Amino acid sequence: MDLEEREINVDTISPYFEQYFGHSPTVIAAAPGRVNLIGDHTDYNNGFVLPMALNNVNVVAIAPSPTGKHRWIGGLGDPIIEIPIEEASKKGCPFWSNYVRGMIYMLEQRGAVIPAVDMLIDSNVPRGGGLSSSAAFEMAVGTALAAFCGIEITPTECALMGQATEHQFANVPCGIMDQFISANGIEDNAIMLDCKDLSYKLIPMTDPSISVLVIDSAVKHSLADGGYAARRKNCEDACSVLGIESLREANIDMLKANKEKLGKLSYIRARHVVGENARVHSFAQAVAKSDWESAGIAMRGSHASLRDDFEVSCAEVDTLVTLCDTIPMAASIYGARMTGGGFGGSIVALVKSNDVEQVAKEIIEDYRQALGIETSYLITRAGAGARVIFQA
Ligand code: GLA
Repeated sequence: MDLEEREINVDTISPYFEQYFGHSPTVIAAAPGRVNLIGDHTDYNNGFVLPMALNNVNVVAIAPSPTGKHRWIGGLGDPIIEIPIEEASKKGCPFWSNYVRGMIYMLEQRGAVIPAVDMLIDSNVPRGGGLSSSAAFEMAVGTALAAFCGIEITPTECALMGQATEHQFANVPCGIMDQFISANGIEDNAIMLDCKDLSYKLIPMTDPSISVLVIDSAVKHSLADGGYAARRKNCEDACSVLGIESLREANIDMLKANKEKLGKLSYIRARHVVGENARVHSFAQAVAKSDWESAGIAMRGSHASLRDDFEVSCAEVDTLVTLCDTIPMAASIYGARMTGGGFGGSIVALVKSNDVEQVAKEIIEDYRQALGIETSYLITRAGAGARVIFQA
């Protein structure tokens, strides 16, 4: 995968739409991927996360279909798939269409009447890179279809519909973080989200001396293949032993007091969640003071815990994080960690802006030398959330 910089907007997608369908789109919406700065595997434990939206987006262009059937195209150059109206809100093939089917179903549950649409999708959010390409897709589809049908949904409602789509149509029992930030992202801000009640605080990321660097491990991750669901189950098991509703309510003394009853696995999984929630708070406090050293310490702690206690990293991702400590330019990096669900995907690092290009190049080169893997990077500011970018 490439961390692409190819621009996608109304002017790039409209000509393709016209070429495919012979008429113009009437609504175009865009929704971003995300990078999580800190707080992983905490969202489904009613905990805290601190992601920011990317400038990389999924863009969805739609118009009424003159054929009476849905006609959808999953990406530039792909074939048109045709779906009868009555099938469009049921699970089906190809797999990617389930994200659209799910969002149609969720909108219909809220009273929307969705006629046959022609739909073209384009994206520069890398797939399988741990940057929430599927949440971006769901939010772009939801935003476009809601505008198209004239139904009002808030960004958070759209996010909840996206999460339900993942659960019911894509078999991923995800938390709310990815859809929430894709829907609610605000330029130049990360968001500290309390996943228990979805209240949040903006965390300005405007210090020009600091850059957010994302590097892809080039190991594709899939959250549908069991590891993610197994971690959720470990957390639920820990809660049953502790007699609590979610690990949000746990603390380290409670875990220590119940160490034997919990057993090793539940104990270390829960220890990650408890520690990670605390690290989100330390990170937010550090960023507010531009104390990048402390922010970096929280990130390093997060990576170690995800690697050792939650066991969701992998050798390649660990190599990238280690390189952040060992390259000649290491002193320019405050901290680095895996980001997102894990099992591959990307790392995120906070780096001195003056050196960030050089740092990225050193890491990419050393990674290639160490593992023989070619990969790419992204230096990014916090982007905006899902929005309609064109409506006729
Ligand atoms: C995936 C899920 C999120 C979250 C992260 C881990 O991205 O979609 O809900 O659980 O993994 O923090």
